Amino acid sequence: MQTDVRPENMVRITTKELANAFIDEQVKRIQEQVGDKKVLLALSGGVDSSVVAALLIKAIGRQLICVHVNHGLMRKGESEQVIEVFGKKLDAHLIYIDATDRFLDKLAGVAEPEKKRKIIGGEFIEVFAEEAEKLEDVEFLAQGTIYPDILESKDGVKAHHNVGGLPNGMTFQLVEPVMLLYKDEVRVVGEALGLPHEMVYRQPFPGPGLGVRCLGAITRDRLHALREADAILREEFANNGLAGKVWQYFIAVPDFKSVGVRDGKRYEGWPAIIRAVNTTDAMTATIEEIPYALLHRITDRITHEVEGINRVCLDLTPKPIGTIEWE
Ligand code: XMP
Repeated sequence: MQTDVRPENMVRITTKELANAFIDEQVKRIQEQVGDKKVLLALSGGVDSSVVAALLIKAIGRQLICVHVNHGLMRKGESEQVIEVFGKKLDAHLIYIDATDRFLDKLAGVAEPEKKRKIIGGEFIEVFAEEAEKLEDVEFLAQGTIYPDILESKDGVKAHHNVGGLPNGMTFQLVEPVMLLYKDEVRVVGEALGLPHEMVYRQPFPGPGLGVRCLGAITRDRLHALREADAILREEFANNGLAGKVWQYFIAVPDFKSVGVRDGKRYEGWPAIIRAVNTTDAMTATIEEIPYALLHRITDRITHEVEGINRVCLDLTPKPIGTIEWE
């Protein structure tokens, strides 16, 4: 069993050589742990789960069963991309489940952030358990837990769904090969594993997805507005050279409305809040300066193209004191 404390003398993985040494060690460890059993992996399509998938495919090939649960809280186009990259290009054993209604029904009326996280995490585990029951010899559950998740769970800052949230009586054993790594190290390992650059350098996406960005009690209309506004932000960052430069950027939409005017009529809508931060390990973060012309363009597009949004605001708060996510 791997301990969840990073040894003080553990060298930071910054080069391909260090990454390869890590990969060799983990491949052996995974093979020893798993034997000829099957492993179920929650493949969200984020950097962490994608790198874990690639590591496991290298170690145990088709014994890995990737399950992509579309919880209805994905960014625009993300589920489609998972199917394209893992299902088609990497020929992984991939099961796709559209569980949108199940998640959104359970979340209806729930406003408290940690409660939302727990519902989403709990539902995830249930979906996996159901999938596992349909399969034979699945004894393991792989997870893309990384070191900041562990540190912050220990500090009680937040309950990450992938640490410590497993129900009693669960029969899976965990495989968490990148649990001692910081985010920047996970990326170096991903590149050494041959994953596409754009996948390895994709922004981190929290397990609860847009659920922690659709603030308060989630409604389908506000979630839709958030997804569309977020897609515009990403498109504009990509078109203006910021996509590869900024570590994480997204929209959060709170659950209150303000008064506005559209087409000469009163138009009440939600604000879209832009958050764009830089960091190396997600423990602290600074604010990216976005050119004003681009901010104006993003504001114009979001307020004109997205139903339900009538203002755009910019969050200038570093971490600390603000966490990167709003919830
Ligand atoms: P915070 O908000 O704690 O975020 O400053 C630090 C990094 O972690 C991501 N994050 C999560 N990832 N499950 C995850 O897998 C979560 O519940 C979660 N909450 C935050 C966040 O997007 C940022 O990259």
